[in-house]
Amino acid sequence: MRNRFAFVGGSSGKWHVTSMQSVRGDELAPVSHVDVATAANAPAAPSAGWRIDGQISNLRYATRMELTALRSRQEPLGRPQALVAAMIPIRKTAGWWDLAQDERRAIFEDTSRHTEIGMRYLPAIARQLYHSRDLGEPFDFVTWFEYSRSDRQAFDELLGLLRATREWEFVEREIDIRLELQS
Ligand code: HEM
Repeated sequence: MRNRFAFVGGSSGKWHVTSMQSVRGDELAPVSHVDVATAANAPAAPSAGWRIDGQISNLRYATRMELTALRSRQEPLGRPQALVAAMIPIRKTAGWWDLAQDERRAIFEDTSRHTEIGMRYLPAIARQLYHSRDLGEPFDFVTWFEYSRSDRQAFDELLGLLRATREWEFVEREIDIRLELQS
């Protein structure tokens, strides 16, 4: 499957880890590098590291209006000026997954304004969401963001706003990994 990717944390890779912080829940083994590859071509988890798979999937919550707005503003990954990245694997609580789709959407957007807040930071921050839950991974999502060094503060501000929302009350595991492109 070409939309399935593997995030491999170990002692080599394209991305150099500048910091790793367990925001909530169990830690992930500390590593010095992360590599991203299509799952079929990726190595197994290194002995002192980890591998987390995630796949690009359809949207769950965005409305037509939000989708149109997002598409008009968002930038792709891999921009030459985007030398830094954040990889934030997240797991949500059983309580979140017990909710109905409309209840989750209500918390995600009507209450927490996730998309509305996030859109303020486009196009500076490029993003990609990977779904891991249905792959049996210990995380439900791998979130990946790329931006230029001068936007690091803006990214931290965005994270602060999202972590203060009702949606984040349903986050039970979150690891904040910051990366720089290996030169
Ligand atoms: C850069 C600006 C951002 C924008 C425009 C944005 C937008 C979105 C949108 C539209 C979705 C829903 C996709 C769908 O319909 O299924 C989503 C999902 C998600 N975003 Fe963001 N986001 C941003 C930043 C962030 C940040 C900083 C985090 C923190 C890690 C984050 C974590 C997530 C997670 C975990 C989901 C999946 C939620 C779920 O399905 O329960 N996002 N985002």
